[in-house]
This record gives sequence, C-alpha cells and structure tokens, in this order.
Amino acid sequence: MYVCVCNALTDKDIIEASGRGARTYDDAFRMLGAEVCCGQCRCMAEEVIESAATKSIRVESHAAYALKVCQGVTRRLGRLQPSS
Ligand code: FES
Repeated sequence: MYVCVCNALTDKDIIEASGRGARTYDDAFRMLGAEVCCGQCRCMAEEVIESAATKSIRVESHAAYALKVCQGVTRRLGRLQPSS
C-alpha cells in the first residue's frame, strides 16, 4: 500500500527503514532517500513505524525467551551425569 504518494513509498519501504533502525518519520525518509513534500503521509507513516517497532520488540522478546529456555536446558543437561 502506498503511504507517501509524493515519493511513491509503500508501507513495505517504511517497514524496511524501521528494520534498519529508523524510529521517526524523518529517519525513515532520510534512510529511503526521500524528501518530505506535502507531509500528508506523516501520520500514516508514523503509525507504520510504530507498528513495525512494536512487532520487532515482540519478536525480540520471543527470541530472548527462547534463548533463556535453551540456556536452562543446556545447564540442566550439563549437570546430568551418565549412569554407570
Ligand atoms: S505524501 Fe508524503 S510527502 Fe506528500
């Protein structure tokens, strides 16, 4: 879906910029080499950035949880002694 008509930027472009670290509308436009013309897209672009950041945080949280579980299992396995 087009978010910025002036620069032909889609939501995927904005999400990609967010994934590369853009946290604001201006960051995203700078990263994408775009210039703000009319600014009518600001609100929608900010929603896309916020949504992408929230999803990213959720994914990072799941990854951190999975890592902790794996580390716990590894520790427990390390404590197990083979029976003789
Ligand atoms: S629609 Fe994005 S600057 Fe005009």
